[in-house]
Amino acid sequence: MARPCLLPFLLAAAALLIAWAPGGALAKSKLAKKSDDIVNGPLLTEKLKANRTLIVGPDEEFKTVQSAIDAVPAGNTEWTIVHLRSGVHRHASHASGKVVIPKNKPFIFVRGNGKGRTSISHESASADNAESAAFTVNADNVVVFGVSFRNSARAGLVNNQEIRSVSAMVAGDKVAFYHCAFYSPHHTLFDSAGRHYYESCYIQGNIDFIFGGGQSIFQCPEIFVKPDRRTEILGSITAQDRMTDNDNSGFVFLKGKVYGVGEVYLGRVTAPDSRVLFADTYLSKTINPAGWTSIGYTGSTEKVMLAEFNCTGPGSDLAKRVPWSQRFTMNEASKYLTIDFINGNEWLPAYYY
Ligand SMILES: *[C@@H]1O[C@H](CO)[C@@H](O)[C@H](O)[C@H]1NC(C)=O
Ligand SMILES: *[C@@H]1O[C@H](CO)[C@@H](O)[C@H](O)[C@H]1NC(C)=O
Repeated sequence: MARPCLLPFLLAAAALLIAWAPGGALAKSKLAKKSDDIVNGPLLTEKLKANRTLIVGPDEEFKTVQSAIDAVPAGNTEWTIVHLRSGVHRHASHASGKVVIPKNKPFIFVRGNGKGRTSISHESASADNAESAAFTVNADNVVVFGVSFRNSARAGLVNNQEIRSVSAMVAGDKVAFYHCAFYSPHHTLFDSAGRHYYESCYIQGNIDFIFGGGQSIFQCPEIFVKPDRRTEILGSITAQDRMTDNDNSGFVFLKGKVYGVGEVYLGRVTAPDSRVLFADTYLSKTINPAGWTSIGYTGSTEKVMLAEFNCTGPGSDLAKRVPWSQRFTMNEASKYLTIDFINGNEWLPAYYY
């Protein structure tokens, strides 16, 4: 079976070749079915049938990302491409410098030239996660390809209230990111609410760096633990906020790899029904043997679902895991292992299976 998550360079090279030969290798299928096709900008453009493009760059009609988004009509109903030229899109002089897709502008496809070439960068720290976000999606039906999101705020002291420095906050429903990257020291990706899909994305951080109440699949993610020597506590990759057992939210990590420097937990309990699964994932020794933590949480861990299934690597040894974490059987894991968990068949333009 192809494992594109483990072959990023080959993939990037192949994507380039395909991008340069659009008449050739690109499938003409309109179906949003299994993406044997390599997901790239042209493929997504075709699947979404986007026929309006707003180009952002120093020599283009739109100089800032926000000005292009502002030009999309309120109540938009047709997929519109906001194409970001290669380079760092940073607009400190602009009113706020942050990029926000407001609730009333759905059907936007933010298309970069690849996560190594196109980035949105902003420096913002706050006591409030949403306030600090460099990029915010409040609209439903948003697709992003090939962009790095960076909050370049200097890391504050841990336990200082001004340390929140979110790179992206995702609060709309039916939002997908392909081949993107998220950078911040911690609290990197605020996966706040709604159904989301992240394919082949890179996410870096130390404390609670993928957090919120989203209902999300992370397909072939690359998760890099960045050391933070200012703190005695060990950080956590996830902090999932599922509040009740009829809340559909949860984070599912499939076929990715976790590595880095220092030591962290896979997740921290932050709500009575926190739900996170790591499946078919390589875990390096950067995962503490206890696996999961409830530090800072005073409620019961009785109903949480913090689980692992079929992981590999030195960090996957289950012998010393906290007793309230779970090791899933194939049967227990199965309902989380496909895009059905986020009803992806109904809305994803492409997905890896
Ligand atoms: C985009 O294409 C659709 C049909 O595919 C058409 O109805 C619509 O008018 C087009 N919009 C633009 C801006 O060309
Ligand atoms: C476990 O993961 C390996 C890859 O690491 C995969 O080949 C295998 O099919 C998985 N097993 C199950 C039962 O899903």
